[in-house]
Amino acid sequence: MEVSVKTPSSDGEWTVVLPSKGRQGRRRKPKPKVHQEEEQQPWKSDDLEVDPQRQARLKQKMEISMKKIETSEFYTAFLEQLKSPEVSDQIRLVLGTDTQLQMVMYGIGSIESYESPRFQLSIAILLKREFDWVGDSIEVFDPVLSATESSYLESLGCTVLSVNEQARREALKPTLFFMPHCEANLYCNLLEANWRTDRLCRIALFGNSFQMYEEQVSFDPEVISATKRIIAAQRITSEFAIETVSEDYFAAFHDSSWHFFSSGIDSELPLFVSEEF
Ligand SMILES: C[S@@+](CC[C@H](N)C(=O)[O-])C[C@H]1O[C@@H](n2cnc3c(N)ncnc32)[C@H](O)[C@@H]1O
Repeated sequence: MEVSVKTPSSDGEWTVVLPSKGRQGRRRKPKPKVHQEEEQQPWKSDDLEVDPQRQARLKQKMEISMKKIETSEFYTAFLEQLKSPEVSDQIRLVLGTDTQLQMVMYGIGSIESYESPRFQLSIAILLKREFDWVGDSIEVFDPVLSATESSYLESLGCTVLSVNEQARREALKPTLFFMPHCEANLYCNLLEANWRTDRLCRIALFGNSFQMYEEQVSFDPEVISATKRIIAAQRITSEFAIETVSEDYFAAFHDSSWHFFSSGIDSELPLFVSEEF
């Protein structure tokens, strides 16, 4: 049987979600292995040299991207949704007594090579500018990042992580995980690392629609294994799908949602973990 839990690709097709290696990630062919290197390990970019000319070109491309997003109807709608009572209430719950969410960005992709990662990064930077509740430092990790891209990200005030956390960061503080179009295993890793009510409720997650994963589920055991936490988390997830508004932003943001995880389920959470895992 064909693997049929899918992740959205730039053309709107749902393509196979199983993790694989490579520089870009989208439009990849399925690989039989579901769990790639799951251990957290030190990471260094493959190309060690920062190229000042490439960095200057990247800066230009990012400026164009930011300007385009900032003046778009898409961004207006994006902000309206975040400011709506439904979503801002959720953010308040994640904040609790804290004033800021720290942002961790996984799987941004190659900002030098592709427009979608540039649009996604632009949104993250603009969020930081727009909302006081977004913390100042953005931590970023994607194994495809070049030394030039990392250096540019640092110049924007981001911190590029030197460890591949496999998205297993524990939300000890309120955290916004910005994970646009990541593969399912990364969302699962994040959930697994935080599978306690007092941690899940500290998470705001921007990424592929969990609802979509549930709708696309298959009987393939590997796929079930790669998505089981997402499916289980559905019971405690409040999801707010974003509108791409125009074709220009479809590739970067289609089938993306904000996700929040409700608390008050202390007795239920361990129960359904042991039932299903
Ligand atoms: C499907 S691509 C999406 C890229 C980009 N966000 C986009 O929409 O075009 C998934 C990305 O996740 C990255 N990735 C894979 N393993 C990762 C890990 N352990 N931590 C962070 N990112 C990872 C891949 O390198 C790839 O760039």
